[in-house]
Amino acid sequence: MLLSVENITVHYSRLPALRNVSVEVDEGEIVCIVGPNGAGKSTTLLSISGVLNPTSGEIIFDGQKINGMNPETVARAGISQVPEGRHVFTTLNVEENLRIGTTIRNDRAEIEKDFKRVLETFPVLAERRKQSAGKLSGGEQQMLVIGRALLTNPRIMTIDEPSLGLAPNLVDRVYETLTELRRDRGLTLLIVEQSSERALKSADRLYVLRSGEMQLEGNTADLQDGEKVRQAYFGFEEGTPQEGGVTF
Ligand SMILES: Nc1ncnc2c1ncn2[C@@H]1O[C@H](COP(=O)(O)OP(=O)(O)O)[C@@H](O)[C@H]1O
Ligand SMILES: [Mg+2]
Repeated sequence: MLLSVENITVHYSRLPALRNVSVEVDEGEIVCIVGPNGAGKSTTLLSISGVLNPTSGEIIFDGQKINGMNPETVARAGISQVPEGRHVFTTLNVEENLRIGTTIRNDRAEIEKDFKRVLETFPVLAERRKQSAGKLSGGEQQMLVIGRALLTNPRIMTIDEPSLGLAPNLVDRVYETLTELRRDRGLTLLIVEQSSERALKSADRLYVLRSGEMQLEGNTADLQDGEKVRQAYFGFEEGTPQEGGVTF
């Protein structure tokens, strides 16, 4: 297993935001964690990238315990995080934004090769190489932050809600690109999304997280009818009366 999150509990305050959460990602897989707003998806990714330190449990990457390491050490080990919200530096141009991804590397010659490859993968970034990143559309900015993460030369990339605020056709385009990156480079991906439909379409395996606890794990091929996922996601069977007599 390339990445194993083993029974982590994470606190911001007295109440835990994650309780005994486990996630596994194998080399070359696309794994998606889905769940409603506030489920703990971002908390999971921030724990993996070393921004948050779990109170208990372990995170093992390529056989090495990484919880407790700082974010830079985790990034150097080969985990690249694309955080929620497409953070580009609007005062820098597209190329300068991309090159930030290379600052943790020392392999000059390889960096230039990878840089060319990223521009080939994202022709729109090549066209706008010298333009201010602030002028890019939302979809282009999402490509830019993925390109920047690729330039760290990661073994696994984690992405927090890549589809947030994008028009459906752009979401399709982003996921096509991610699928191509897996196919062409063997990139391993751990993606977090609110939409289970998107995860069922694009991932190999899926986890459903709700209220800080893992509810379901499975191959997307076995979950295509969506019923089990819906139940895990919402926490009750559709049509059954809820506390207070409200029927959903
Ligand atoms: N910085 C923070 N301080 C305190 N509580 C937080 C903080 N960030 C998130 N939380 C809480 O932790 C829980 C999980 O949040 P989060 O991981 O952001 O969920 P998701 O990404 O699935 O929407 C929520 O209850 C949220 O309110
Ligand atoms: Mg989030």
